[in-house]
This record gives sequence, structure tokens and C-alpha cells, in this order.
Amino acid sequence: MERTFLAVKPDGVQRHLVGEIIRRYETKGFKLVGLKMLQPSRELAESHYAVHRERPFFAGLVDFITSGPVVAMVWEGDGVVASARKIIGATNPLTAEPGTIRGDFGVNIGRNIIHGSDAIETAQTEIALWFKPEELVEWQPNLTAWV
Ligand code: TYD
Repeated sequence: MERTFLAVKPDGVQRHLVGEIIRRYETKGFKLVGLKMLQPSRELAESHYAVHRERPFFAGLVDFITSGPVVAMVWEGDGVVASARKIIGATNPLTAEPGTIRGDFGVNIGRNIIHGSDAIETAQTEIALWFKPEELVEWQPNLTAWV
């Protein structure tokens, strides 16, 4: 089953958007299989954004992502990588469509609330970077047993 890595960035945590963000993926129908809060080390942040190492915004991006707690998540479901990115919206919140997370809550490209893996292979790399295998939970949704 396809999985993706999502992280509520420090601005999303500070703005109390964690519940709202989780709600959007839960109600869409995806399954949460990993969840933790941590303040990323510089080493973790630099590995995560290694593809941007030569870009002018790299240092500021690493400063920002390490500046406070992040909520790291793994979500599972058919087509979850691309769908999660659609729900997030464009990189720049000013041009992100209303109805997307960035379109609804952000105005600054450097404070764009949430990260989501951009491809299946990237998702696998990012999940392995942020989570130990034993931190991911296998479970079967079974609503009728609980209500
Ligand atoms: P990128 O991977 O291009 O975007 P996305 O998060 O939508 O996959 O860039 C990673 C992060 O770098 C992005 O979320 C915000 C930051 N960033 C800037 O601060 N300035 C920029 O010009 C770009 C392209 C990204």
C-alpha cells in the first residue's frame, strides 16, 4: 500500500493547525500509520532538504524547520502521495488555491505550514529518514466493531 510522509512545520504547530490538518487527511479517507512530535536537528533538516542544498533559501529553510516542534506523520492509501500534495496546494501560499491547506492558511512561501513528499520514491526515502520501522503501526480500520 502506498505511503507518504507529511510534516506540520513549526509555523503550523504554533498556529494550532495540527488538528485541522490531521482532520483533512482522516476525513478524506487516508489511514494514519505513524505520528510523532519532535524538534528536528540540523542534521535531519539538512538531509531532508538535501536536494535544495545549493539554493539561496536553503540556510533560512533549515533555520526555520529546526526552530520549533514539527509533527511528523506517515499516511497510507491508494494514490496518497499525489492526493496529499493536492490537499496541501502550491508551494507559494499566495498562489495556492483556496480549499488547499496552504491556500486557506498561509501567505508566505517561507512559512507554508506543511511538507508533503513529492513522489513515491521521495516518500520512501523521507519515511526512512524520519521514522524507525517499529514506529510505524499496522492496523485495520473496522468501524462496525467500535460503533
Ligand atoms: P519545494 O520542495 O520546491 O516545495 P514543496 O514544499 O511545495 O515541495 O521547496 C521546499 C521548501 O522550501 C518549500 O516548502 C518552502 C521553501 N522554499 C522557499 O523558502 N523559497 C523558494 O523559493 C522555494 C522554491 C522553496
